[in-house]
Amino acid sequence: MSHHFLCKQQEIIEGNPRDFSLELESGKFELFLVKHDGIIYAYKNQCPHLGIPLNWQPGEFLSLELTHIQCSTHGALFNLDNGYCILGPCAGESLTSLTVEQRDDELWLQLDSLIPITEKVA
Ligand code: FES
Repeated sequence: MSHHFLCKQQEIIEGNPRDFSLELESGKFELFLVKHDGIIYAYKNQCPHLGIPLNWQPGEFLSLELTHIQCSTHGALFNLDNGYCILGPCAGESLTSLTVEQRDDELWLQLDSLIPITEKVA
């Protein structure tokens, strides 16, 4: 199982998500980390509505109230803890959740989590 180092755990602060652009063998991959109630969540930086990045500015992923992830293009709102869209043109769909492993104080992206579940089963 291969992993990619992202950052130190303490670099991810509540209310201040961080985006990453990785150059992998399979091509460019964009994701972001967001901390909520002490837990760090990782999502692919891609809105299910049009398949484009959620943010216009680096690290700008949250609604004004910091209660949801918000797409900057059409304003869709997603739950912080599961990526489920509660409001907007893609309501009922979800962000792609990724697996991040903590090793001491370091966060590592599990690269196998980038493969869609249907391909994993095949
Ligand atoms: S592209 Fe995200 S809501 Fe339309």
